[in-house]
Parts: sequence; structure tokens; C-alpha cells
Amino acid sequence: MGDMEMNELSPNDASRFSQLEQIISPDMVEWALQKTYEFARLMSYYKCAMMEIETKLNVLNEEFSLRFDRQPISSIHTRLKQPISIHNKLVARGLPITVESIEKGLNDIAGIRVICSFEDDVYKLAEALLKQDDISLIQRKDYIQNPKPNGYRSLHLIVAVPIFLEHEKRIMRAEVQLRTIAMDSWASLEHQLRYKKGNSFDESMTDELKRCAELSVELDVRMDHLRSIIYTDVSNTVLPGLENAIGTVHQS
Ligand code: GTP
Ligand code: MG
Repeated sequence: MGDMEMNELSPNDASRFSQLEQIISPDMVEWALQKTYEFARLMSYYKCAMMEIETKLNVLNEEFSLRFDRQPISSIHTRLKQPISIHNKLVARGLPITVESIEKGLNDIAGIRVICSFEDDVYKLAEALLKQDDISLIQRKDYIQNPKPNGYRSLHLIVAVPIFLEHEKRIMRAEVQLRTIAMDSWASLEHQLRYKKGNSFDESMTDELKRCAELSVELDVRMDHLRSIIYTDVSNTVLPGLENAIGTVHQS
């Protein structure tokens, strides 16, 4: 290994690598470093895809807030799947543990969770995102129309989005989960409880969680009804006080 490369390692790393070179051949060390680099590069592509989609959603939020006089997005959370979770998923699916296999076989390395104010916003945003000509839909799972048996609700989209690098354009896949605040609070509490219980809910717990999910459906339906009464689309209406201003422009 040349001095230039050594300079990029901390003294601790450098000593580990020299220990490694005593056990395995320099070729193998080179190979491992190459694979590590390829993995890091792929992860950075996924990060770029996540940023692209997050920006698209923020732009839509901006436009919608002007049109409807409120923000359809309550918050956006992005995450890159952890290496250990990637490894476990490849093993579970019987896929080879390679960088190529991650890109070919897994759709949820880049995850974008969009928490919307109302159920109507979930569909409006999804539709507006999918209409964009550089976004293509790979898979759509509507767990709002068809909740999972445990009561889980969300709209899941697997999309492909281009990222533009210095010398190439790459199409990356990402998982977008859209849900309301009520759906999100149910999902995050259920996740916490399931984690604590090691995936083993007894029947009464399962029933109770289902009941909570039903309450959250009712909350969403009632809130969405209130929204539809209170808010209207202002894009086609002239704001009070602007009529004269517009008239003046036309006259001059
Ligand atoms: P995965 O192998 O877990 O990705 O399942 P899948 O490929 O069948 O995807 P699916 O669309 O069913 O779910 C993917 C993601 O949705 C999960 O990683 C969770 O973030 C979320 N999710 C799905 N089901 C549940 C659930 O019952 N509870 C909670 N809290 N989250 C869920
Ligand atoms: Mg997943």
C-alpha cells in the first residue's frame, strides 16, 4: 500500500491493516478495500436519491401550502438501511452478499417516510410525485385501502429516480412511505411494543392493537371530513382585495 493511501488512515487503522496483511495476502486486503469502496459508493448513490425525492416532496409541500393555505406535510424522515440490516435481508432472501445483489435485489435501502396532516394529502402527494416525468413507479402497496391484518396502514411506493453524477446518470430505487399523523403514531408505538415483546404478541394484545388501529381510522376519517369542510382550493379563486389590482393591470 502506498504512502498516499496510508495517510488517509488513522494510526490505529494502519496498524490493523498491517496486522491483516500478515494473516491474509495483500491481494485480499486490496480486494476487501475495493469492495468497501464499492459499497460506500452505492450507499452514497442511495443517499443522493433520497435527497432528490425529499426535495421533490418539499417543493410539492411549498406549492400545496400556497394553493390550500396549509402544509400537507407534517414531517419527512429519511434513512439509509444499516449494513447489518442489509446483510440480514440478503441472507433471509437467499441472495448473494454482494454490492450488485443489493442494487438488484433490495428496494428499501433508501427510505423516505412522509407524515401528512390528512389522509387526503397522502393521495394528493403520491399522485403529484408519481406524475413527475423523471419518477417511475415500480410497486404500489395501499395499506390504507387494504390495511394489514394487524391494523397497519400506510401508502408504500417503490419508485425509481435518476441521480446525475459528474459523468453519468444513474437510476436508483427508493421506498416512500406516506401516512397520516394518526397512522404514524400507531405504527411507531406498535413497532416499539413489538420490539420489546420480541415479535410475540398474545391474542389479547393483538386484539387491543387492532382496536387502537380502528380508533386511528376513525380519527383520520373525522379529521379529513373537517378538513374538506374548512379548506377549499384557492388556486382558482381571486383573493379578496386582489380583484382591483388585477383589473388595474388589465386596464393599463
Ligand atoms: P419488508 O421485508 O419488511 O421490507 O417487507 P415487504 O417487502 O413486504 O414490505 P412492506 O411494504 O410490507 O413493509 C415495509 C416496511 O413497512 C417495513 O420495513 C416497515 O417500515 C413498515 N411496516 C410494514 N408492516 C408494518 C407493521 O405491521 N408495523 C409497523 N410498525 N411497520 C410496518
Ligand atoms: Mg422494508
